[in-house]
Amino acid sequence: MQKTLLKATNIAHAFDYPLFSDINFSIQEQESIAILGRSGSGKSTLLHIFSSFIKPNSGEVELLGENLYSLKEDKIEDIRRNELGIIFQAHYLFKGMKAIENIEIATLLSNQKIEDSLLERLEIKELMNQKIGELSGGQQQRISIARVLSKKPTLIFADEPTGNLDKETANLVMDVLLEYIQKHNAGMILVTHDEEMAKLCNKNYRLENQILEEF
Ligand SMILES: Nc1ncnc2c1ncn2[C@@H]1O[C@H](COP(=O)(O)OP(=O)(O)O)[C@@H](O)[C@H]1O
Ligand SMILES: [Mg+2]
Repeated sequence: MQKTLLKATNIAHAFDYPLFSDINFSIQEQESIAILGRSGSGKSTLLHIFSSFIKPNSGEVELLGENLYSLKEDKIEDIRRNELGIIFQAHYLFKGMKAIENIEIATLLSNQKIEDSLLERLEIKELMNQKIGELSGGQQQRISIARVLSKKPTLIFADEPTGNLDKETANLVMDVLLEYIQKHNAGMILVTHDEEMAKLCNKNYRLENQILEEF
């Protein structure tokens, strides 16, 4: 039996207007799920709700067996640091520091070590001693993915992780993420505009007219 990593029940949220209601969703180990939807439909907000950063107006999120929005802040921080891998488009790398130092920050905090095989797979091993500011956008994106995976997260949240990449690099990044979740019994929730990237995942959902539906 595969473990349920996240289970969301009856989620509703509004900002200036209702974004969605009655969202039910779950993800198991080794599963990758893509969420598609038009710009402004609330995909990023939903990912923030699932990943502990926004408390929804109503509904519950059970993350790794814990009822997320009833946990104390230090326990949530613990889960974020050790279990969650968050990949957003704007990668918060330290520009003046070397690539390797950026990755080390994450592995020191989570008590893991950096695997050469991952750096080789992402084709960034040779870049480790360069400063982030000297690297291209696509190289920086791969450094930030290496940083996230080096933490050995149990659940990956990726918001348009390949949006700025050329097709070949986007496919490489998707392959690495999918291999990771198989090898480490992890899961991935991917928000994307790109149907081709979505098709590489096990399941596809669409967020439309305030409803999340598998298709
Ligand atoms: N923190 C916020 N405060 C107020 N409105 C927000 C906030 N975050 C997002 N919104 C609004 O919610 C809507 C959905 O945003 P978002 O979740 O980013 O959609 P998507 O990722 O699908 O493009 C947008 O209209 C956006 O302006
Ligand atoms: Mg978005």
